[in-house]
Amino acid sequence: MNYKKLKRKLRRLSTSRDFTSIKDQYAELYKIKLKDKEDIIGIKKAGKLTVDTLNLIEEHIKPGITTNEINSVAEAFTRKHNARSAPLHYHGFPKSVCTSVNNVVCHGIPDDTVLKDGDIVNVDVTPVLDGYFADASKTFFVGSPGKDAQKIVSVAKECLRLGVLQVKPGNRIGDIGYAIQTYAEGQGCSVVREYVGHGVGFEFHEPPQVPHFGQKAQGIPLVPGMVFTIEPMINLGKHNLHVLSDKWTAVTDDGSLSAQFEQTVLVTDGDVEILTPFD
Ligand code: MF3
Ligand code: CO
Ligand code: CO
Repeated sequence: MNYKKLKRKLRRLSTSRDFTSIKDQYAELYKIKLKDKEDIIGIKKAGKLTVDTLNLIEEHIKPGITTNEINSVAEAFTRKHNARSAPLHYHGFPKSVCTSVNNVVCHGIPDDTVLKDGDIVNVDVTPVLDGYFADASKTFFVGSPGKDAQKIVSVAKECLRLGVLQVKPGNRIGDIGYAIQTYAEGQGCSVVREYVGHGVGFEFHEPPQVPHFGQKAQGIPLVPGMVFTIEPMINLGKHNLHVLSDKWTAVTDDGSLSAQFEQTVLVTDGDVEILTPFD
């Protein structure tokens, strides 16, 4: 579609109050599937299970636990609630959750690694309940954190909060990344480029992509019914990373700590609702 035509469509869209018309246009223009009331109820139920799972995991995190044990706790709880774990066998991923320790940016594979005092570990949970996906993650302290661990976890958490604050109709995807990048870099940290937030709900990863860096007022306009994740990965050192030979585990090039928090959010008529609410 040429640019003029796109602009015309967007102008019509921004003045339209007809949800069905917006829905059709977002599907056609961006391949984004807007969610209706019933979908949102379903995603919220999956979101509650996501948060309950993270809370249960938190109780188990202490020095001596292995990442495999975390995986088992999550998988058993998910099954007990008649859900399945989206990561399991997703493009060949072998486990039910991702466990990313210290310098691991994301997609760490649970194994016999024993967590020790002072480590940080991100656990990323995505259950599928009645066909609906919700995706959230938290970085936990194992035992007592050192200064660096405290710093990176608090910066990553604040990045997510500031990103969520940008979510409202009329703002654009770029506003989210801009807010996150400005804060992270202002704190002397860096934002990972290779992995981004994403639409979610009907599938694990749907359009649009939601970068955690970028420019104000750029990108797709946010409209009610959009459901996507914000999941900034923030490094204490440089942003560069590489993926290990297991094809999944992403680690910082400079060995610095990396932390992440993730929420699934809904654009409402007013502003935003978090569908995986944790503090
Ligand atoms: N949960 C991750 C995300 O936030 C994706 C994990 S893909 C997996 O998008 F295969 F590693 F599970
Ligand atoms: Co995600
Ligand atoms: Co996730």
